[in-house]
Amino acid sequence: MRIVVTGGAGYIGSVLVPRLLAAGHDVRVLDNLMYGPHAILPLFIHPNFSFAEVDVTDRRALEPHLRDAEAVIHLAALVGYPLCKKLPRRAVEVNVDGARNVAELSPPEARIIYASTGSNYGEVVGICTEETPLNPLSLYGETKTRAEEIFLERPGTVSLRFATAFGIAPRLRLDLMINDFAYQAIHNRYLVIYEKHFRRTFIHIQDIAAAIQFMIERPERITHRVYNVGHDSMNYTKEQIVQLLQQRTEFLTHFAEIGSDDDKRDYEVSYARIHETGFRIEVDIERGLDEVIGALRYLRLQNPYSNV
Ligand SMILES: NC(=O)c1ccc[n+]([C@@H]2O[C@H](COP(=O)([O-])OP(=O)(O)OC[C@H]3O[C@@H](n4cnc5c(N)ncnc54)[C@H](O)[C@@H]3O)[C@@H](O)[C@H]2O)c1
Repeated sequence: MRIVVTGGAGYIGSVLVPRLLAAGHDVRVLDNLMYGPHAILPLFIHPNFSFAEVDVTDRRALEPHLRDAEAVIHLAALVGYPLCKKLPRRAVEVNVDGARNVAELSPPEARIIYASTGSNYGEVVGICTEETPLNPLSLYGETKTRAEEIFLERPGTVSLRFATAFGIAPRLRLDLMINDFAYQAIHNRYLVIYEKHFRRTFIHIQDIAAAIQFMIERPERITHRVYNVGHDSMNYTKEQIVQLLQQRTEFLTHFAEIGSDDDKRDYEVSYARIHETGFRIEVDIERGLDEVIGALRYLRLQNPYSNV
C-alpha cells in the first residue's frame, strides 16, 4: 500500500516507518525535520522509502505529496504541553490548521489514521471510555481535540487516542514520563515526585507502531471511528512506576507533599474497544522498563556546568 506518514521523522514515526517498510509497504515521509534527519537517514537505502521536507502548514507544498496516497498517517504536530505553551500560535497553526490541510488534501478514498491522545480526557473521575466527554487541560490537548474533530468529519478516518508512550526509538524523547524518570534515576540517582497518586496509562512505542500498522492492514476489524490504544494492564500511578524502577536501579526518591506537577493529567482508561478488534500489545511494563533502564544508562548527555 502507498502510505504517507506526516511527522515520520519523529519519535513514533522513527519506529513506525521501518516497520511499515519491512511489511512491504511503500512509505513516503513528510516532515519539516524540526529535530533533524538522523532518525530517518538509514531508511534512504530502502527502495520503497521516499522523503520530502514539507511543512504541513504549507498547503501548496503538501498537495502533490498526498495526491496518490492510499493511506495517510498523520503524526506531525508540536507535541506535549510545555512546547505548545511556549509556542502557542505555532501550536494552533501546526496542530489544527496543519491537520485541516492533511484532512482536506488527502484523496477522498484514502484511509486516514490520526494520532490523537488520551491527554484529551484530562482529569476524570472513574474510567474513560471512548464515549467519555473530552476535557483537555492544556493547549496541547485542546489543539489535538480540535484536530480530531476535523478529521472525524471526514469518512474513512480512524482516530487513535494513544496512552503515554515510553521506550527507546531512533528519535528519542526524554520528556515522556517513564523515559524521564528512568533517565533521572540512572544519571542523577534522585527523583522528586509530585502528586504520586496521579494515575496515568502507558504504552510501549513498539506497540503504538503495531497498533497503527494493524489499523492500516486490518480494516475489516475496525467497527468504530475512535479507539483508545493501550492495555488495561498498563494503568499505573506515578508511585507504582517509581517502585518498579527501584527494582531495577538504585536511586533516592522524594515524594513531595508541597508543590504540584504542572502536568495535571490524572486518568484511567478502558481499552475494551480495541481489545475487541483482536489487537494486543506485546510489550508489558516489566519488559519495557528493562529495555529503558538497560539502554538509557549508555546515554550520557553532556552537562557543560558539571565539574565532573
Ligand atoms: N508519544 C506519545 O506519547 C504520544 C501519545 C499520544 C499521541 N501522540 C501523537 O503522536 C504524534 C507523534 O508524536 P511523537 O511522540 O512522535 O512526537 P515528535 O515530536 O517526536 O514527532 C513529531 C514530528 O512531527 C514533525 N513536525 C512538527 N511540526 C511539523 C510541521 N509543521 N510540518 C511537518 N512536520 C512537522 C517533527 O519534525 C517530528 O518529526 C503527535 O501527533 C502526537 O500528538 C504521541
